[in-house]
Amino acid sequence: MSSDKNPGEQRREYARSELRREDLLADPIDQFSKWFHEACESEESDPTAMSLATATADGRPSLRTVLLKHFEPDGFVFYTNHESTKARQIAENPNVALLLPWLTMERQICITGTAVRTSHAESLRYFVTRPIGSRLSAWTSLQSSVVSSRKFLEMKYEEVKRKFAEGEVPLPSTWGGYRVIPETVEFWQGRKNRLHDRFLYTRRDDNSWRIDRLAP
Ligand SMILES: Cc1cc2nc3c(=O)[nH]c(=O)nc-3n(C[C@H](O)[C@H](O)[C@H](O)COP(=O)(O)O)c2cc1C
Repeated sequence: MSSDKNPGEQRREYARSELRREDLLADPIDQFSKWFHEACESEESDPTAMSLATATADGRPSLRTVLLKHFEPDGFVFYTNHESTKARQIAENPNVALLLPWLTMERQICITGTAVRTSHAESLRYFVTRPIGSRLSAWTSLQSSVVSSRKFLEMKYEEVKRKFAEGEVPLPSTWGGYRVIPETVEFWQGRKNRLHDRFLYTRRDDNSWRIDRLAP
């Protein structure tokens, strides 16, 4: 990338790799797994960070970063507060999109689908693996609500810490996961002269996947 401070003057050629139809695995989760492992072995700073887009019932969108915590044949899981803005939007409109921008690899993965809550048991299984500070913070923060000050948050944290000083920090009823069940998954690989490779997997009614190359 050129170092010019004017965004329009910055130029980057994408020439690191290519994606050919014959390299693709039949199932997008298997293809995701292959790319995810490659991203973890690359200099990509956080391959688990993904943008999550949600929208209100009347289609007003919002976007934020969340962390991918598992993926398996039925979808992609992240954890959050069930009373946050994103959770309220998912409750009224379960259609969501995820974007994993692996720009060091000159790749992106774009996913659309529906978000469903993970079970209490699954959320609990993950919650107990989180560091103590993160578990306390889940009790402290009414995510997405207005707070009066940093000091208020810190006082609340100390109060929660005292409350759970003896014994385990339980799973808050307002905290848990969502699984994004994919309907489409696009794998994008940057190529020279902006002739990028794009392959879109679309779920068929019988749960097999159709694969189309898209124009860049
Ligand atoms: C790198 C990074 C990782 C994040 N991971 C999560 C996460 O896994 N879960 C979460 O609820 N918020 C996470 N956040 C915070 C969200 O981006 C967001 O601020 C928060 O969830 C509130 O979003 P909402 O008000 O739209 O619901 C992360 C932020 C960053 C920058």
